[in-house]
Amino acid sequence: MRHVSTVRQFGLTETTRLIERAEYLRTAKRAEIQKNLAGMLVATLFYEPSTRTRLSFEAAVYRLGGQVISAENAQENSSSKKGETLADVFRIVGAYVDAIVIRHHSAAELEEAMPYAPVPVINAGAGSGEHPTQALLDVYTIWRELGRIDHLSVAVLGDLKYGRTVHSLLRMFTMMSNISLKLYYPEGLGLPGDLLSEMAQAGVRVEHAGSVEEALADADVVYQTRIQAERLEALEEVCAASDYAIQAKHLSVLPAHARILHPLPRVGEIDPAIDPDARAAYFRQAENGLYLRMALLEQVLKGELS
Ligand code: NCD
Repeated sequence: MRHVSTVRQFGLTETTRLIERAEYLRTAKRAEIQKNLAGMLVATLFYEPSTRTRLSFEAAVYRLGGQVISAENAQENSSSKKGETLADVFRIVGAYVDAIVIRHHSAAELEEAMPYAPVPVINAGAGSGEHPTQALLDVYTIWRELGRIDHLSVAVLGDLKYGRTVHSLLRMFTMMSNISLKLYYPEGLGLPGDLLSEMAQAGVRVEHAGSVEEALADADVVYQTRIQAERLEALEEVCAASDYAIQAKHLSVLPAHARILHPLPRVGEIDPAIDPDARAAYFRQAENGLYLRMALLEQVLKGELS
């Protein structure tokens, strides 16, 4: 059974194949692709809030001619509320559908339960662990915007400790050549130690910047993230998000060719005054998620994920 649980499963070959397919699906005529997943049924089970991820996955299935059943707010509205284990949920739902897309608050629980699913499971965000499909669409966005996914200087700002999108994206960088990172984050919200070691082992250069300006100065990509307030134990720990975020006043130090990415939602980071700037790529990034997820669903449902 080929689940999608971590970006570690995707080498350069698989990633390039997904990007090429996403690029085709973006411009394909609707009539040409609307039977690609005909007869397929996908369940989306979301135990944590979501707008982009759930709706882009569901739109992707429908655009390819498949169908969706959904448990939104599954922690409250499914039998998980009664104490049912995730393994049992997978056994049951897996008997009804061809694939399960799940967002869950516990990376460990999701990992443990996956082997019980009789159909492929796609991790759509697991606690503060990984968010592999976000990282794939982030890489797709970098490729579309800059024409390459190597030889990059990347400023990563915000919550690097709990931000699962950062964890997955940085892991993807370990397979690319000549990547330099400049990190700027609130005290106590730096990268987990194991991820720092993975970067070092893979030859990804990591520097800690002393200010937003310093992080941005020679960046090709700015990856801005939200402070994951829901995962912090003491809310007082939360600093002013905008202190660790790109603001309109910083645009003058950002190279003209650079691109600003954010997995969204933004809550205080990234002043809307930045939106009209050509370097602001976050809305295009969100749209790219639809095509990338279409490409991934095709591979998962046709059993082509190698
Ligand atoms: C992210 C997530 O859920 O991890 N959102 C998303 O999927 N685009 C980022 C976040 O919530 O900060």
